[in-house]
Amino acid sequence: MRYSKKKLEKLLCLEDFSLAAQRYLPSFMYAYISGGVENNSSLAQNRRIFDELGFAPRVMRDVSHVDMSTTLWGDTYTAPFGIAPMGISAISAYRGDAVLAGAAQEAGIPMIMSGSSLIRLEDICSVGPNVWFQAYLPGKQEQIEALVARVAQAGFQKLVITVDTPVAANRENNVRAGFSTPLRPTLRMITDCALHPRWTFGTLMQTVLRHGMPHFENNYATRGAPIISRNVLRDFSDRSHLNWAYFQRIRAMWKGKLIMKGVLTAQDAQRAVDEGADGIIVSNHGGRQLDGSIPPLLALPEIVRACPTVPVMMDSGIRRGSDAMKALGLGARMVFIGRPFGYAAAVGGQPGVQRAIELFATEVKRNCAMLGLTRASEMTDAYLRTLSPASHFERYLGKL
Ligand SMILES: Cc1cc2nc3c(=O)[nH]c(=O)nc-3n(C[C@H](O)[C@H](O)[C@H](O)COP(=O)(O)O)c2cc1C
Repeated sequence: MRYSKKKLEKLLCLEDFSLAAQRYLPSFMYAYISGGVENNSSLAQNRRIFDELGFAPRVMRDVSHVDMSTTLWGDTYTAPFGIAPMGISAISAYRGDAVLAGAAQEAGIPMIMSGSSLIRLEDICSVGPNVWFQAYLPGKQEQIEALVARVAQAGFQKLVITVDTPVAANRENNVRAGFSTPLRPTLRMITDCALHPRWTFGTLMQTVLRHGMPHFENNYATRGAPIISRNVLRDFSDRSHLNWAYFQRIRAMWKGKLIMKGVLTAQDAQRAVDEGADGIIVSNHGGRQLDGSIPPLLALPEIVRACPTVPVMMDSGIRRGSDAMKALGLGARMVFIGRPFGYAAAVGGQPGVQRAIELFATEVKRNCAMLGLTRASEMTDAYLRTLSPASHFERYLGKL
C-alpha cells in the first residue's frame, strides 16, 4: 500500500515527498499538513527569505571527509537537523510518531514528539534518547504539573514548550478542506477517503482495526478526546492566560533540558534564558499561527546574538541542505524540518522517513564540501553574502 523502496528511490528531494503526499492523502488530510493560516503570507515568506542570502564558497581545501556531527548539551547527533513536532501524525501516517521516532533514532538525529499526538508518549519515549517531547501547556497549573511529571516519569530528557499558540489559529484552509480536530465525518470526507484507498485502508482502517480508535493521548496527564467524533469537541484548553510565572514553575519542576519553541524576538529569547531555558527554537510554527509573523531566519541573528550561552535552533521553511547551511551560518546550532517528514511518513512509513533523512543529510554534506568545510559546525556567516545591499541581513554579516 505504501511506497515501495523502488518508488521511494524516485523521490529525489524533500519537495518530491509533498507531491507524492498530495496524491496519496485525502485532500482534507493534505490540506491540514500543507496549509498555513489566513493568507499563507508567513508560509510563503518562510521560503522566500532564504533567497536573500547567497554563498561565498572557499576552494582548494581538502574536503574528502566531512563531519556533520553536532553536539547539544553534551549529546552528539550525526547531523545538524532534526524532525519538528507534528500533531496527529499517527492518523496522517500509519503509526506516524513511531516511524518518525524510529527513523530519527536510527539515523542519529533528534525527533520531537508532539503533545497533540495519538500514541501514548511512554510508547514513543522507549524508542530512544533522540526523541524529545513537546508540550502544549494545559490551562491549569495542576494539569501542567501532572503532565510534566508524566513526561519525566516516562524518561524523556528534553522537554520543548511551544509558546506561540496562546489562542487557536485561524486556519480557514482547514475549514474549507473539511478538516477539523476531532475529524467530523461528512459525505464529502467519506467520498474523499473513497478516492484515496491507499490511505483509507493502509492507514486509517489499519490503525482503527489494530490499535482501536486513536485518542489525543498526551495533551494532559490523562487521555483526551477521540480523533474521529461527530460531537465531542476536542478539549482545546484555554492557554491565553499563561505567562512567565507558569514557565518558572515548570523550570522548578523539570530537571532535564528545557527548550522554548516559537520565539521570534531577542527580548523573549533572552527572558527565556534568564528564566532558565536551556535552548530556544526560533519558529513561526511553519506559518501556521500568526499570519504575517516574520520568517524565523530573519529573527535568527538577533536571537543568536542575544543568547550566547544556549543553543539557538530554528525551523520553518527549510527544504534544502542549502537552507540549513544558511541557518547554520546565521548561528543556528540545529534546524528542524516539519512537513516533508510528515509526508515521508505518510507515503513511505519508516523507510520513507529514512529516505528523506538520507536525501537531506546528503545535501548538507555535499554543501559543506562545496563551501570548503570539513565540519558542518564550522559554518559561519563568513560564507554568506546578501544578494541585495538593502537586505535585512546586511547589518549582521561579519558581526556574528
Ligand atoms: C501537520 C503539522 C502539525 C504540527 N503540529 C505541531 C505541534 O503539535 N506542536 C508544535 O510545537 N508544532 C507543530 N507544528 C509546527 C512544526 O513543529 C514546525 O514548527 C513547522 O512545521 C516547521 O515548518 P516546516 O513545516 O516549514 O518545516 C506542526 C506543523 C505541521 C505541518
